[in-house]
Amino acid sequence: MKRIGVLTSGGDSPGMNAAVRAVVRKAIYQEVEVFGIYNGYSGLISGKIEKLELGSVGDIIHRGGTKLYTARCPEFKTIEGRKKGIAQLEKFGIEGLVVIGGDGSYMGAKKLTEMGFPCVGVPGTIDNDIPGTDFTIGFDTALNTVIDAIDKIRDTATSHERTYVVEVMGRHAGDIALWSGLAGGAESILIPEADYDMGDIVSKLKRGHDRGKKHSIIIVAEGVGSGVDIGEKIERATGLETRVSVLGYIQRGGTPTAADRVLASRLGAYAVELLLEGKGGRCVGIQSNELVNHDILEILDQKHSVDQNMYKLSQELSI
Ligand code: F6P
Repeated sequence: MKRIGVLTSGGDSPGMNAAVRAVVRKAIYQEVEVFGIYNGYSGLISGKIEKLELGSVGDIIHRGGTKLYTARCPEFKTIEGRKKGIAQLEKFGIEGLVVIGGDGSYMGAKKLTEMGFPCVGVPGTIDNDIPGTDFTIGFDTALNTVIDAIDKIRDTATSHERTYVVEVMGRHAGDIALWSGLAGGAESILIPEADYDMGDIVSKLKRGHDRGKKHSIIIVAEGVGSGVDIGEKIERATGLETRVSVLGYIQRGGTPTAADRVLASRLGAYAVELLLEGKGGRCVGIQSNELVNHDILEILDQKHSVDQNMYKLSQELSI
């Protein structure tokens, strides 16, 4: 393989740039040419493709967002869309593709692989919801953004002796909520993977209040429902002054943490190694700090699950 392509797709995540840099530098180190495909699969269809050099990825390792831009592309879900994409790859002489993104992006890579074009998936999403890897690129940074916010909210919550509901991202996955709730000492953590009992939440808040607690924090993953609605219910049921903070898109941006930069560098370079070994149709990950790769078709059939032991621990520590 003498020419590969790289794209970022789906929701962006901090560390995607470090992954792109690793793909480009590793390929050039192996004397392989690299082409950047802009705006995800939609740029693949329209041919927004450009050769990248060593310097093209200079000064980006520490930047959030993605230099290659990203998009969600409904057209790529159609066979016609994918055929247009393959025609562009052929036009540029690209023989293999690294796709950095979440499960939707993996689906595109899987479909291309099925059509005979070798792709390797690199897990880039703040949600940490890709099977076959302990961590996805961007999760650690998003988590630290949430923790920073919780710590600040805790200050004002204590001053005013209030309860705060903090809504975090995670449409289908509770990892951001669970990890930030545990690290932030939240009273209750509501995740899409587990039912919650409003009665338990309310009695825990009242118990805390009765023993002199000055503030309470409830973390709600967006997939559970509106933090505003949950906050109103809590205020009505407890009689305690309650405020809601929806953290939103600040979780997707910002300088990637060292952990995300290292993870992105390792996974990006590993994806290139696999392509050059002729191993398409794979996705890379990290498990017990070892680089691993899996069949992308099998990974898409699996369902991500949150760490149930950690969820139980969070409940035990917040009695
Ligand atoms: O995939 C990451 C994520 O941030 C989810 O947690 C969130 O639900 C979704 O993206 C929002 O995506 P969009 O910006 O396309 O609405």
